[in-house]
Amino acid sequence: MPIKFHEGSKTFHIYNKHLSYITCIMENGQMENLYYGKAIRDKEDFSYLHEEIMRSLMAVCVPEPGLLSMQYTKQEYPVYGTGDYRNPALTVRQENGSEIVDFKYVSHEIYGGKKKLAGLPATYTESDEEATSLDITLHDSVMDTDLVLTYSVYEDYPVITRSARLVQKGDQKIRLENVMSAAVEFPDMDYEMIHLSGAWARERYVKTRKLEMGTQAVQSLAGTGSSSEQNPFIALKRPHTTEDTGEVFGFSFVYSGNFLAQVEVSTYEMTRVMMGINPQGFSWELSRDEEFQTPEVVMVYSDKGLNGMSQAYHRLYCDRLMRGKWRNHARPILLNNWEATYFDFNEEKILNIAKKAKEVGVELFVLDDGWFGTRNDDYQGLGDWFVNKNKLPNGISGLSRKIEEMGLKFGLWVELEMVNKNSDCYRAHPDWALQIPGKNPVRSRNQLVLDFSRKDAVDFIFDSITEVLDYAEVEYLKWDMNRSLCDVYSAAAGYQGKVLYDYVLGVYDFLDRLLKRYPNLLIEGCSGGGGRFDAGMLYYTPQIWCSDNTDAINRTRIQYGTSFFYPVAAMGSHVSAVPNHQTGRVTSMHTRGVAAMSGTFGYELNPALLNAKEKAEIRAQLAQYREYQELIREGDYYRLSNPFQDNFAAWMVVSDDRSKALVSVIRLTAEANPPAAYVTLKGMEEDAFYREKTTGKVYPGAALMEAGILLPAAVSEYEAYQIELERV
Ligand code: GLA
Repeated sequence: MPIKFHEGSKTFHIYNKHLSYITCIMENGQMENLYYGKAIRDKEDFSYLHEEIMRSLMAVCVPEPGLLSMQYTKQEYPVYGTGDYRNPALTVRQENGSEIVDFKYVSHEIYGGKKKLAGLPATYTESDEEATSLDITLHDSVMDTDLVLTYSVYEDYPVITRSARLVQKGDQKIRLENVMSAAVEFPDMDYEMIHLSGAWARERYVKTRKLEMGTQAVQSLAGTGSSSEQNPFIALKRPHTTEDTGEVFGFSFVYSGNFLAQVEVSTYEMTRVMMGINPQGFSWELSRDEEFQTPEVVMVYSDKGLNGMSQAYHRLYCDRLMRGKWRNHARPILLNNWEATYFDFNEEKILNIAKKAKEVGVELFVLDDGWFGTRNDDYQGLGDWFVNKNKLPNGISGLSRKIEEMGLKFGLWVELEMVNKNSDCYRAHPDWALQIPGKNPVRSRNQLVLDFSRKDAVDFIFDSITEVLDYAEVEYLKWDMNRSLCDVYSAAAGYQGKVLYDYVLGVYDFLDRLLKRYPNLLIEGCSGGGGRFDAGMLYYTPQIWCSDNTDAINRTRIQYGTSFFYPVAAMGSHVSAVPNHQTGRVTSMHTRGVAAMSGTFGYELNPALLNAKEKAEIRAQLAQYREYQELIREGDYYRLSNPFQDNFAAWMVVSDDRSKALVSVIRLTAEANPPAAYVTLKGMEEDAFYREKTTGKVYPGAALMEAGILLPAAVSEYEAYQIELERV
């Protein structure tokens, strides 16, 4: 069992071949964090890792026999009121207003496999041998409340997952005001924090900063949606850590609402990492026999640099977070009509686009926004999920059948979490929108948010959309969500502190019900582009639209940042028309194809406007993508350059057995008479020889990794190259 409990020293050692995590029960009954890092051999007692010395003005909670002070102790789940003045992982307001709690160890259970988290997405196991779990139960006797800390360690991945659960046994109604999913403490502060920050159309840019004493954090208050601004993800790396060497600790939150990822460095240079639901806007009442479950944090340890961390997340999320038919499965190559028509279409126009899409070899046609209610612009129609017969006289069922008859699959856009004031839905049920009584609601993209925390509203929307889907041939759904939450007030909820969390769980439940009803349905997440790209959504939607920005050059940065924690198989990435609608830039079809092939491939353009040359290029692109689709989706992904710094964006995928590789390079700058440029590869077999497909040249694996491949001399700006290699 890779979780051991040493009775004598009261120590838990959670480990696998990659990592060790050691925690013990202290004299005061609370839990101490002793070690997290590279795998170390087990031993009975690791208590020497605890520092116990006398410091002036020290707050001592157990004076005899030692000098236990929480202020200088690395804790497993710190609370306020122990003499530790750093931020706590838990704040519970009691009926008398006190928020001082004292959770002491009571019992634990070690078991094979991994339990589900009620109502929440989480990584999973398919057999009890894949992971081992530990539940540590602590108890506060004043409130009569249990706190259960859960850990799971996977056998084959450098991963530990964490979550916490509060169970109220006493008669008091307590209020949870802050419940982090995990806290981890490191004995020093010699780290840099990496986070993914951005905005609409430039999501998930990689930011790195040195840790300093005090608090540094990223968070989202966007309500739902991890948001385009901050992704629920941070990593701590050593200053000398590179893409391939050195230590990194990754933290990813499996939740799609407000989050807080906080790193606090004490003046004694200890580093406390906490991740969980953002306490702002959260307050949960717990009465006798009720419980609250936090979402999961997935922690990855890598001593093989940033790429090692990324690959661990890629593998785990592809294999044990994504589910159902589309896990490890080829995704249809699609064409979406949004940038081709926006709201301006009718059946004839759509059928013409679909026909042309089929002619060039696309597999699935997606009808985007504008097919329902009176949705002729973005001021109206959301909430009315019945077809607009003026545009589509044969309904979605008729249209989808005609498209199917062409030999194409059909997909549909929805934005079910939203409502326009100008809709039948809002006119009949104004109380289903989240808004504060007596206050003018804040609008964003002219819409309000439907209250997904209330069952009647959700059931109505569910019935409306299933009425469409039941009678049509819909294989794919684009689940969009185009604004953040701010007027968070549910007319149905009594106590408002729970609405945000219930909203997120309402969305999850809806998606779950849809997938149960249509198990073959492929759902692609979207939120004003990539505004809700998180591990929570990946549990339901195995691909997510990366960004509304389809400019190939900008995309190299967006996809580079996304690749830190999310697999290529999750990244919705399309070739769009030029000049690009977001940046006005013109790049070649080839360059756009190379950028888009680093994701779930498709097109975002009007194929009826393509000339013969472009059509031929698309046909060739599709043939190539089909050849490499599995390698791109399942292979090991390596970043070969940093597009924020280098003149090239370069990345590659290598098959599991290292027999095949596809290298992609895009020139980001144009320079006259530039120096020679080599791209050095990774992950190849040193002693093997590889043949490059287009030139027939043979290279030793070691040479590809040490000397690299010389790129052709630049002919024009934004040129792209794909180097296809096969072991001989
Ligand atoms: C969002 C999406 C786009 C498109 C529009 C439709 O912005 O990101 O891809 O679907 O909505 O309104």
